[in-house]
Formats: sequence, structure tokens, C-alpha cells
Amino acid sequence: MNVAIIGTGYVGLVTGAVLSEIGHNVICLDINEEKITKLKKGESPIYEPGLDEVLERNIAGNRLSFTTSAEEAFENAEVIFIAVGTPQGEDGAANLTYIQQAAKDIAMHINRNLIVVVKSTVPVGTNDLIEETIRTNAIGSFQVDVVSNPEFLREGHAINDTFLGDRIVIGSENEHAGSTVESLFTKLNIPFLHTNRRSAEMIKYASNAFLAIKISYINQIYNLCEKVGADVNDVADGMGMDHRIGRAFLNAGLGYGGSCFPKDTEALAYLGRENEISISLVDAAIQANKEQRILFVNRVLEHFNGNVEGKKIAVLGLAFKPNTDDMREAPSLDIIRILSADGAEVHVIDPVVKETKLLAEVAVTHSKTLEECVQSAEAVLLVTEWEEFVRADWEELLALTKNATIFDGRNVLHNHKLISQVV
Ligand code: UDX
Repeated sequence: MNVAIIGTGYVGLVTGAVLSEIGHNVICLDINEEKITKLKKGESPIYEPGLDEVLERNIAGNRLSFTTSAEEAFENAEVIFIAVGTPQGEDGAANLTYIQQAAKDIAMHINRNLIVVVKSTVPVGTNDLIEETIRTNAIGSFQVDVVSNPEFLREGHAINDTFLGDRIVIGSENEHAGSTVESLFTKLNIPFLHTNRRSAEMIKYASNAFLAIKISYINQIYNLCEKVGADVNDVADGMGMDHRIGRAFLNAGLGYGGSCFPKDTEALAYLGRENEISISLVDAAIQANKEQRILFVNRVLEHFNGNVEGKKIAVLGLAFKPNTDDMREAPSLDIIRILSADGAEVHVIDPVVKETKLLAEVAVTHSKTLEECVQSAEAVLLVTEWEEFVRADWEELLALTKNATIFDGRNVLHNHKLISQVV
């Protein structure tokens, strides 16, 4: 099938790459010239394991191309995916400017019946608005069916998640449109769930908020474990063995960041307020997540009796989680800002993020090696659980420090039994 995709962010690019890999002709559209120029050469603008190979293979096979021209993108498209960003507005509501623009662009170019698939995470009812926008702005009368197909991929596992997802949700008001979208994905061998559009939109928010609540819950249990002498990893293992609970998303630590959980929980809380429905569990999860970072920094400050002035502190990890270069809502940002403002000499290292504009105003030194980062440090903070940090020879690293205490922000160093300096 001929498919066009609007937006080459994580979701759009991975969807485009995977659809081309399973045999569709895909053209990706973005307004960012620089990005498109890179992509045409097969260079991915994001760090995502496995993506480069898929891009390369399908560009070479003429199944995947890129453009900044809407006209070119929509010329032969039978299905158009919208995968543009829905950033969080100041009141917590999702900002739909890019979505509206995409709908208008489609309307301006439509010259035949069309199926529009919305991958972007949008508040319940937005698919209805998109359909209305396209229909009212279109020149000529064509059948336009908007189908909701929320995305569940995780950054850092995007390719795998798309090939091996748990479910593909298709929210449609028209059976033919729903089954056409299903036929796009049948090669993936993933179970389908057909719902109406509003349910599909809600599934995405409800899933992400549920996982966020799970994380905040285990984090609060973790804080209590610390006080009463229990080991949160054992507690999570024990809880997780109950199949009704499950072990996934029970890793306690610094809490969630990234482009989805913080934004989607806020958007769901906003939807609750707007509809005068209490979803206080989500509010509590948001609050607990904010507090978790502060509690961590407070533990470091307490260790230095409140004075980190001139102390070298090594921060391991910048990205919000391993295997991504995404810095959105990363706990590292808050931690580094606070410690640096308090006069600490902060040195950081991340395997992928080598610098970030988000810390431009902050005095922070980017180290080239782990050894350089921890050399003479008085505290080492494990903030992102990158494999190379977890597997590092911590005895050797410790020997380089100034008798540093290690603050394990991800609870992953518990197997290093020899380290007595981990807190
Ligand atoms: C998430 C959802 O998993 C995905 O389905 C959705 O499409 C987008 O949002 P992502 O943000 O890429 O994906 O990362 P994920 O691996 O889910 O982790 C989210 C955050 O939760 C990270 O900050 C991670 O560090 C944190 N987390 C995750 C925990 O703190 N503990 C856990 O047990 C799991």
C-alpha cells in the first residue's frame, strides 16, 4: 500500500521504517529541512538501536523516501499517518497546533477518498475534530475516514516494540477503514483490538498513566523500605511473582521522565478536571514522581551535611533512561541544576548525550571517560542505568575517587556485594 507519514519524530520515523520493512511504499514528510536532508542520506536524527539498518535497507530498496513537500508526500498516498508532536501546554493540556496544521495540510491536497491514521497521542475526541477539520477544509467532496491507532513503543526499544508489540489498537467509526488499517499491519502478527475512536484514544492515556502510577507506587514503597530496613528489589520481585501484579515497571529509583509519561499523566489529569471527574490517583502519581528526584538530591545533600560547595560530584547518566539520547524530563537535569546551584563541582558522563542545551546555563563538566568523571569525586551518582555503568568495575572506579559514596538512583548496583559504599 502507498503510505505517507507526517512527522519524523520517534513515532513517525519508526512507523515509516517498519511499514517499509514489511513491504509498503512509504514517504515521510517533515517541515524540518535539515532532518529530511539527513534522512535522505540514511542518517537517523535520533539515537535508536536498530533503526539505522532498517532505514538503510528500505531507502536502498526504494520503499522508503523523505520529503518536505506535502504535495509530493500525498500524491499517491492511500493512507496518511499523522505522527506529529502534541507537546504539553502550560495548563497540562496537550497542544494540538501541529495536529491541526497536519489536518489542514491534508485537506488542502486531498483529491480522492482517503484514510487518515492518527498515531499522535491526542486527547479523547481529537480524532473527531481532525475528521471535521479535513472535511470542512477540503476542496471537493471525498470520503475521509480518520482512524485512531495509538503508539505503544518505548524509546530505545522502538524497533523491537513495533515488531513484537502486545497489541495494535484500531479505533474507527467505519468498519472498512478499520479493516484497511488492520491489513497494513497483518504481517506483524500482533493481536488487534478494534474499538471506537474515543476508546482507542483513551487506551493510550489510561495505559501510560497506569504504568506511571505503578512506578510512583513502587517508589513510595521504596522510600518506606529504606526506613524500615526492607530491600525494595526483593519486595518488587515478591510482588511481581503474583501474575495479577507482574514484575514489569516495578523498578524503584528516580522515577519516570521522557516524552510520554510526564506529558500524558498531566493531560489525563487535565481531562479529569475538565470533565469534573476525580482521577486523584494520577495527580498523586505526578506529585510523587516530582518528589522522588528531590528526595534523592536531599540524600546527597544530607551526606555532606547540607554543604556541597566545591565538592566534586560525578553524575553518571544524562538521558532520561538508557539506550536513548532523549533528555526530555530527565531526572539528571533537576539533580545537576540543584547541586550546581549549591556550589558543587558537577562532572557528568553519558554514553550518548555528549552535551545538552538544557544545561547551557549550568556550570557542569562533560567527561570523556568514566574514569575521568569519577577521578577524585567525593560522591558518585548513578542517574541513568546504562549497561556500561552497571557492568563497570566499581571496585576499580571507587579506588579513583576520594573515598566517594555511591548514590544508586536506579537500584541496580545491589549485585555488587563488595561495594560497601553504595547507598
Ligand atoms: C513509554 C511507554 O512505555 C510506551 O508504551 C509509550 O508509547 C511511551 O511512553 P518510554 O517513555 O519510551 O515509553 O520509556 P519506558 O521504558 O516506558 O520508561 C518510561 C520512564 O519510566 C523512564 O523514565 C524509566 O526510567 C521509568 N521507569 C520505567 C521506572 O522508573 N521504573 C520502571 O520500572 C520502568
